[in-house]
Amino acid sequence: MPKPSLPRFCKSIYALLGTSALVGAVAIGSAHAQDTAPTAPAAPTATTPAPAAASTPAPVEDAAALQERGAYIATAADCVACHTKPGGTPFAGGLKISTPMGDVISTNITPDPQNGIGKYTEQEFDQAVRHGVRRDGAYLYPVMPYVSYAGMTDQDVHALYAWFMHSVKPVATQPKPTELTFPANVRSAMAAWNFVTTKEQPETGDSATYDTQRRGRYLATALEHCGTCHTPRNFMLSEKQDHYLAGGSLGAWYAPNVTSSKTSGIGNWTEDGLVTYLRTGRLTGHAQAAGPMGEAVEHSTSHLTDKDLHALAAYVLQVPAMEDDLEHQARESFGKAVENPDIRTKEPTRIDDLSEMDGPHIYDANCSACHGHNGAGTVDQYAPSLFANTTVGSVRPDNLIMTILHGVNRKTQDGHAGMPGFGSTSDVQRLSDAEIAKLVNYLMATYGSGDQHVTAEKVGELRKAQ
Ligand code: HEC
Ligand code: HEC
Ligand code: HEC
Repeated sequence: MPKPSLPRFCKSIYALLGTSALVGAVAIGSAHAQDTAPTAPAAPTATTPAPAAASTPAPVEDAAALQERGAYIATAADCVACHTKPGGTPFAGGLKISTPMGDVISTNITPDPQNGIGKYTEQEFDQAVRHGVRRDGAYLYPVMPYVSYAGMTDQDVHALYAWFMHSVKPVATQPKPTELTFPANVRSAMAAWNFVTTKEQPETGDSATYDTQRRGRYLATALEHCGTCHTPRNFMLSEKQDHYLAGGSLGAWYAPNVTSSKTSGIGNWTEDGLVTYLRTGRLTGHAQAAGPMGEAVEHSTSHLTDKDLHALAAYVLQVPAMEDDLEHQARESFGKAVENPDIRTKEPTRIDDLSEMDGPHIYDANCSACHGHNGAGTVDQYAPSLFANTTVGSVRPDNLIMTILHGVNRKTQDGHAGMPGFGSTSDVQRLSDAEIAKLVNYLMATYGSGDQHVTAEKVGELRKAQ
């Protein structure tokens, strides 16, 4: 649908929706803590071929191919990320996704007829996935990324439907319903939002036969919905089309600029480097994926074929450069090994009064065992170096604070990346807001973009946001 250039129209919708703005996918992915990430769905290859549907006696090999394609599309589109609550059965819903208006709770999309989508016809499924309209005709909140999925081909939606109906096990549980406050609880308001929001145009033909460029674009925009997190949003909380992948806040985490800018984005990364990052969640000397990105890697990108990863990476690396308001030097280019002499020569501060410790001592007591006295990490970089590290090199301290609060917990075929979180209220390892602020300022000054003057209040806000 074309985006109308009628400011008055927009204003009236905005008035209708209230200043609290639309639901939007603002806090997507920050909704569940790393340490309770849902179990990954079986990799596409592990899918058991379902029996051919009784009504359509397709040749057996076609049915199997259809199931395989459906499983792969579901993985690439990361349906499990939102439709699974921490520790819950995949696709049974119940995950709370925080928005400025309250929590949207994902629904059960297993083929259970009473609690899930068992009664959905293929056409109704298509209406939900690509158009944001539920079986009963009500509009879905755009937390469900149908704006991106609108770009899927008919054939892939068909395969996706077949897979959900035949290979996903029905689960007879009903997640709590979403209860938003007025006016966001008026689902019909979403019709107006849909009208002003630009959706992906549906692709055509067989997506498996696309050339590299088209396949890469299809993966990035229609399936993986990278822009849902990495593209900033306008006042209506729609993705800003002219700022594709230029960086966006997810509430607590910040999805950085990943355009081809050499100063603000990832313009210095190679295609192989980006493939490694998307497959394993880390790229030595550059970045590690924690929080929502760790989950996207674990559940989705790490399962893509090599060919698809290269197509995806090649596409992302040619996205037009967008300069950032704040970042003017590549995030991974900051810092070097620094041994802080104070730690060795100064009297150690009293351990029983942590609040008196300064940055270097908090680092020494909590981080140096893994990240080294000079910040260089372990020899094998299992615990990465803190210089030449985008999280410490960013001028936005959000992801460093979130990593310290929640740690890293990412499992892929490549192994388990695990760092303890220091934000738990009960743990002996707990660091206070003031301690984390001191630590972050010390780390960014020593190994990164410079002292960002993080306050205890800022840490407190991010602690609450999770
Ligand atoms: C970023 C989070 C997110 C992702 C990813 C996501 N969904 Fe959803 N989906 C939701 C939420 C939240 C709802 C409920 C929205 C509401 O109540 O308005 C929903 C609703 C639905 C519904 C409507 C079910 C009903 O009757 O209530 C269907 C069908 C659905 N999703 C299918 C899918 C499929 C298939 C995929 C993968 C291709 C997917 N979703 C990926 C968040 C997501
Ligand atoms: C659910 C939200 C979400 C989705 C979807 C998502 N990302 Fe991310 N991404 C993030 C966050 C948050 C970070 C920061 C992670 C960290 O610091 O550990 C990040 C980090 C990255 C980085 C590292 C940048 C740097 O400078 O450290 C790259 C590259 C990246 N994402 C690419 C992608 C691509 C390509 C896709 C689509 C295939 C994608 N992301 C999908 C949220 C997301
Ligand atoms: C038990 C070992 C261990 C301890 C202790 C530890 N880390 Fe980590 N750290 C890791 C591992 C492992 C990773 C993840 C590497 C990966 O993602 O592949 C990591 C990742 C990181 C990252 C990169 C995260 C990202 O998303 O970019 C930062 C920054 C970091 N740690 C800082 C700290 C700080 C600060 C402390 C002290 C408060 C600390 N670490 C304590 C092992 C540790």
